[in-house]
Amino acid sequence: ETDTDVWYTLEAQKGETQILPGAKTKTWGYNAALLGQTLAFEVGKHIHVTLKNSLDELTTFHWHGLAVSGPYIDGGCHAPVYPGESKQIDFTLDQPAATTWLHAHPCPSTAEQVWHGLAAMVIVRDQHEASLPLPRTYGVDDIPLVLQDRRFHEDNQWDYQADYDPDGVQGPTAMINGTVNPVFDVTTQKLRLRILDGANRREWRLHFSDNLEFTQIAGDSSLLPKPVHFTHLMLTCAERAEVIVDFKNYKEGDVVTLFSDDVPIVKFRIHAFKPDNSVLPDHLLDVHAPEVLPTTPVRKVVMSGMDEAVAIDGKKFSMQRIDATQPIGLAQYWDVSNTNTMDGGMVHPFHVHGTQFLVISRNGGAPYPNEHGYKDTVGVNPGETVRILVRFDLPGVYMYHCHIIEHEDGGMMAQIQSY
Ligand code: C2O
Ligand code: CU
Ligand code: CU
Repeated sequence: ETDTDVWYTLEAQKGETQILPGAKTKTWGYNAALLGQTLAFEVGKHIHVTLKNSLDELTTFHWHGLAVSGPYIDGGCHAPVYPGESKQIDFTLDQPAATTWLHAHPCPSTAEQVWHGLAAMVIVRDQHEASLPLPRTYGVDDIPLVLQDRRFHEDNQWDYQADYDPDGVQGPTAMINGTVNPVFDVTTQKLRLRILDGANRREWRLHFSDNLEFTQIAGDSSLLPKPVHFTHLMLTCAERAEVIVDFKNYKEGDVVTLFSDDVPIVKFRIHAFKPDNSVLPDHLLDVHAPEVLPTTPVRKVVMSGMDEAVAIDGKKFSMQRIDATQPIGLAQYWDVSNTNTMDGGMVHPFHVHGTQFLVISRNGGAPYPNEHGYKDTVGVNPGETVRILVRFDLPGVYMYHCHIIEHEDGGMMAQIQSY
């Protein structure tokens, strides 16, 4: 036992939660009735996690965005924890500071378990991020926003089967950190929001009242090389963004609203704050694209179909089949395309386990300005081909899939072995 060892226990459990007035909602969570407390891991520590399943069906604990050696530690479908069972996993992180997450991933009931509430934010901290002048007092000026949506049926209950849609389950009510219509009390001039699209299907198109400008400093898997200023931000399923909001032009008593499309989802109530003249550095992170050998072919990945017909490279997922291999340490371009344009098509958020990739191009052109850091999920628009640069540094079998979770459960998933 040393000070570099840390222990956690995570129990997947059922409970009930007061979300709306009236009856409590039956929910699932990690060490909690709904979702789970944010975990914060430090790079370099030896992390020991006891996984406990107190549900009455099997589950898995997937570290979405953590580069851990798969598939048993990574927690994809290969790592079932049976009801009543506990097991321990151990890992040491070596990756940039980021906002990642944990969610259930049993195939094919990932979507339903996440819908019940099995998801939590996981923050990775490192020394570089700690050296930058950024808000980082958790709960005060550094807060999570887990964006989900639900339909509340009779007695305030969720009914996954009734709402089922093979193209992704959605609900009309925005649920933020497991609450509806939250109000956050702002006591500092600057606020860092760690935003996660934790919805099964929904894309969020975020903007503030007064079209307040904000600054994105991080994407899925790292800081951005430099901050990007926006008034509008779109996130697809499983994507994350860290943004800094500066309330300097507001005063005590003002209320700033965060909208998705035209729906208000969070209110920020401004209190007195001390002036904060800290300046965000214009360089946040060095990102070096690994070299690609001229002899390394470009991997093609095709996401096709809709409804029950979704597939990757024309095939449905099989846990018994390894679809591809890639040597450890070898950087390879993947051209990921979305061929379904029928009726306008859908954006498929493409996710790879166990690595962080770079977005190189969209249909041969530049990626979006906020896609220049490391990512693990990228929205691929209908008819589009997105080139990403992927390298695995750890051995294992990793899944890659669409993160509309019903598409993933419906077979729009494949697996690659890095060796
Ligand atoms: Cu967020 Cu395969 O997962
Ligand atoms: Cu994942
Ligand atoms: Cu999809």
